[in-house]
Amino acid sequence: MTNHEIKINFWEYASVKELDTIDQDLCVEAVKAMKNSHSPYSKFRVGAALLLKSGKIIQGSNQENVAYPSGLCAERVALFYWGANHPDDPIVSMAVTAHTDEFELKRPVTSCGSCLQVLAECEKMQNQPVKVILFVGQGPVWVTNGIESFLPFLFFEERLS
Ligand code: THU
Repeated sequence: MTNHEIKINFWEYASVKELDTIDQDLCVEAVKAMKNSHSPYSKFRVGAALLLKSGKIIQGSNQENVAYPSGLCAERVALFYWGANHPDDPIVSMAVTAHTDEFELKRPVTSCGSCLQVLAECEKMQNQPVKVILFVGQGPVWVTNGIESFLPFLFFEERLS
């Protein structure tokens, strides 16, 4: 029997104000993206913003449906839009935030496994990592460079690619 240990690496900042200007601006875009969240069922609004190498910003928000499983997370709305429209303009960074009137969010919302798996594929498509910035209102900010820290056991099979 062999014991393997995986260490993940991410940075925590006390607030968005501690980030550099480019990252702060992207956080503002993620907050703006929440405005178009369609979340009447969960009442949980999520906004995602992608900064592309060209400087273009892509926004996504969670889109729910009365047939519940038909909805999609903010991150995948943004990432699939990127794949459909700008696949040759690499994603430099992605900021994600959330808000609900139902309770207080005290720590960043970490993207679900499906969104992380999709982000992993985007990194593979563009052959470079994406800086991920997760934040909520007044809480701390978590930053990682590349998806592997958040999803070390992502599904990958070279022979399917
Ligand atoms: N949601 C996201 O948009 N991103 C995440 O990373 C986690 C969850 C959405 C899905 C659903 O519309 C609502 O938040 C509650 O789960």
